[in-house]
Amino acid sequence: MLYLVGLGLSYKSDITVRGLEAVRKCSRVYLEHYTSVLMAASQEDLESFYGKPVILADRELVESGSDKILTNADKEDVAFLVVGDPLGATTHTDLVLRAKRQNIAVEIVHNASIMNAVGSCGLQLYQFGQTISMVFFTENWRPDSWYDKIMENRKIGLHTLVLLDIKVKEQSIENLARGRPIFEPPRYMSVSQCCEQLLEIEEKRGTKAYTPDTPAVAVSRLGSASQHFKAGTIKELSQYDAGEPLHSLVILGRQCHELELEYLLEFADDREKLRADVLADQEYFKPAPWVPPAEEEDSD
Ligand SMILES: C[S@@+](CC[C@H](N)C(=O)[O-])C[C@H]1O[C@@H](n2cnc3c(N)ncnc32)[C@H](O)[C@@H]1O
Repeated sequence: MLYLVGLGLSYKSDITVRGLEAVRKCSRVYLEHYTSVLMAASQEDLESFYGKPVILADRELVESGSDKILTNADKEDVAFLVVGDPLGATTHTDLVLRAKRQNIAVEIVHNASIMNAVGSCGLQLYQFGQTISMVFFTENWRPDSWYDKIMENRKIGLHTLVLLDIKVKEQSIENLARGRPIFEPPRYMSVSQCCEQLLEIEEKRGTKAYTPDTPAVAVSRLGSASQHFKAGTIKELSQYDAGEPLHSLVILGRQCHELELEYLLEFADDREKLRADVLADQEYFKPAPWVPPAEEEDSD
């Protein structure tokens, strides 16, 4: 059996009881180690908690070497651990499909994900549209296809969850070209860098999917002891230090409900300013006001 086990967002003890029971009976345990990190537990912490070795699985192993992970999984139990939910945000459906093609049974043990825990910022999950990923811009690679998705979400009033890039075990172009297995230190995009990139692309596109004054919420280290929320405009958050990773951002949709706003005000430096910013932002994309048809002329 291949078990895909969600670890939850932060602590080694966030694993579910069913997940822990599965891990304890597995002969090999892999930890997916390139799309997210468990903030309050190291590899060693997990190993002593589970009472067995944990193998770190980088992108290469999962995407190109998955046969290694699946070796003998038709005869013994293998666990593939994913921070958050195994099918939340990053879906590991490819691994599931490969396992099924080899007649390996698969069981998925779910857990909390950034995709649902983000509701703790006070915005209602029902009011979220398409989630987007923001990657680190380089000098000559500044992808902005996500801009259209924000536009679509905002046009119909929905909030946008922005997940931020993580670079773990990346090689510099030079080391890659020379085949040197030297890896850069891990990098995690911050809320401020994400907001700077948002502002740069709005300036370039100029079609006002959002503006520097559009309200947003910085979400840091959700589910950990130091989790924190900050509500402000995109411009304000581009200068905000959200501290240690992991960070996410939510760009507000224009139909912010009064209860959502009340919750958000708790996270604002200046409550009255945030209220005014949210109300002003809601004017964007409003459908034209309904005008009653002209009354038909009385014919007699
Ligand atoms: C590609 S997603 C992986 C999501 C994970 N599988 C899950 O279900 O939560 C990783 C990104 O989600 C966001 N994220 C994940 N956990 C977070 C947390 N606890 N607090 C804030 N952002 C988080 C960060 O932007 C991070 O770079």
